[in-house]
Amino acid sequence: MKNGQLFRAFLLGSIGVGLLGGGALSGLQAKAASDWPELAHPVAKDPAMEARIAEIVAGMTLRQKIGQMTQADIRSVTPDQVRKHYLGSILNGGGAWPSGKKQAAVADWVALADAHYKASMTTDMKVKIPVIWGTDAVHGHNNVFRTTLFPHNIGLGAAHDPQLIGRIAHLTAKQVRATGITWAFAPTVAVVQNPRWGRTYESYSSDPALVRQYAIAFVKGMQGNLTAPDTTIASVKHFIGDGGTWLGKDQGETRATRDQLIRTHAPGYFGALEGGVQTVMISYSSWTDTGMGKPHGKMHGNRELITDVLKGRLGFDGIVVSDWNAVEQVAGCTRTHCPQAINAGIDMIMVPDDWKQFIEETVADVQTGVIPMSRIDDAVTRILRVKMRTGLFDRSPMPAAGAEADMASDAARATGREAVSKSLVLLKNNARSPLPLKRDAKILLVGKGADKVTAQLGGWSLTWQGDETDDSDYPLADDMLSAIRKTLSDGGKVDFSADAVGVDVKGYDAVIVVHSERPYAEMKGDILYPDTLRHSARYPEDRAALDRVSGKGVPVVSVLFSGRPVYANDLINRSDAFVAAWLPGTEALGITDVLFRGADGRKGADFKGRLPFDWPGASCPETARKPVLFRRGYGLKLAKKSGLGRLPEDGVATCPAIAE
Ligand code: GLC
Repeated sequence: MKNGQLFRAFLLGSIGVGLLGGGALSGLQAKAASDWPELAHPVAKDPAMEARIAEIVAGMTLRQKIGQMTQADIRSVTPDQVRKHYLGSILNGGGAWPSGKKQAAVADWVALADAHYKASMTTDMKVKIPVIWGTDAVHGHNNVFRTTLFPHNIGLGAAHDPQLIGRIAHLTAKQVRATGITWAFAPTVAVVQNPRWGRTYESYSSDPALVRQYAIAFVKGMQGNLTAPDTTIASVKHFIGDGGTWLGKDQGETRATRDQLIRTHAPGYFGALEGGVQTVMISYSSWTDTGMGKPHGKMHGNRELITDVLKGRLGFDGIVVSDWNAVEQVAGCTRTHCPQAINAGIDMIMVPDDWKQFIEETVADVQTGVIPMSRIDDAVTRILRVKMRTGLFDRSPMPAAGAEADMASDAARATGREAVSKSLVLLKNNARSPLPLKRDAKILLVGKGADKVTAQLGGWSLTWQGDETDDSDYPLADDMLSAIRKTLSDGGKVDFSADAVGVDVKGYDAVIVVHSERPYAEMKGDILYPDTLRHSARYPEDRAALDRVSGKGVPVVSVLFSGRPVYANDLINRSDAFVAAWLPGTEALGITDVLFRGADGRKGADFKGRLPFDWPGASCPETARKPVLFRRGYGLKLAKKSGLGRLPEDGVATCPAIAE
């Protein structure tokens, strides 16, 4: 062993031992772990399966074991490399498609999945271990062309309908399996505390109880009995506290007491575990225990919460997977070398590109004792357990002929449309509101996002950011313009103007103004303090368009596409009705089903949505005297005119300094 290696072995060994803490829980750790509930687990260990797994693990080389713990991105690995390096898993990050083709056909996805699967089954191992492919199917199988995309989680939260969530999860699993993939990185069970976070729309609600209900329903809907050909395994994420970071900063510091961690941020995990979830993805965020004044550092290095709590106290026996290169954020780690994360209890490392180096460095860590073989064997055992539970060892995961129809089946489109209708929240419905609109009405439709499906989709839609796409990428979808056209009867008409410049509203029965955010994902969607939450500050074009049509004697209905609740008092004041539509996905007919009367002229579907989060009453809620305009749970029905008076419009341009 070279000196350098010796020194590193000593250095990391001390870290290793420190992290392992000698194995037994200290008194304080045992007390801390007992603060967490004991959960029932629907998937019991099968003794025969466990014996088979132990026999396989015993016959594996170290390199084969580390290969099994490695997850690489399809842009950086070939099937032959999967075979040669014994890789256990692959993934397609947002914007990764077969052959780099955005409009790749389902058959292309299946062909690539089949190539990787076959490669994994032709290694020189005594017992071949099938590779497993994971994908971010977070609102339908959103990486795949011509797929029905459901509302993002924030809209589903507004629907307050766990049964619907279970159906959407199963429809999503069918879409994923139709492409030869068997693992979806969903559900996100973040309980968002600050809508500044760029991932607010991936959260169902700030209500932990609703998130727990949804987690159970989603996991059961997606995983079924684990072996059916139209189910996938789920990945509850991101453990733990991703939605609670300071000022909503993505991958930031979650400041919470242990009790807040358990009561606010953990219920989604309790639900997912009770639903039998087979994988848990760790959060980029860090945790500072504000009760003890103790910074615990990045979650990816938190042995107490991952091993003592999640695996120990909560009894999770599936796979703990890291996030995308996330281990590099652990003190002392790089993306290819992080014994701290593995010793903390992470079983599979998502190291999309530099996976070869990761394997080499981790093999060395085991050889030098920095990572005990027992930890490796536990990780590999868990990986094999999940693969075996799903039948992956027994048969190819490739879809039956005709499964492609599941991508945009009648059931998927109808359920998507239903979910959209149930997600809409009516925030204002004044006496002059024209809702529900007549189907023979003359409508002026305004707004930059009114004729663009991409305004309805948000991030994680064909690409990671949901950008670099247009309506030609969604041939089966409806935007607001096409949905209205399909809804109007012969006597009706709709004219469209993106900005309403030079448009005379006279002669129209109503104006529908669509306000929208540009699509974003993760940190690119953060509204960094001290920027305000005012929609008009970030998108002045929407307010300008509204000003051109408002107060002209024709009633105005505003529809807002957003990934978060925003400060919109000025827009609400200039509208006679105001609808929060969140990020509804491809089925915009679900919107017109509610905005318009039924085909028989009777009232259409009524509004059912209720706010999943508080709605801001100030540009800077953190420092405002009245931070909330509408409380979580608020939502009007058509029959109830709101009589909402003129709202105050704070002119705050930049939020005041705040003590860090
Ligand atoms: C991302 C996200 C995670 C996703 C993973 C793979 O960074 O944090 O939610 O599953 O990478 O795309």
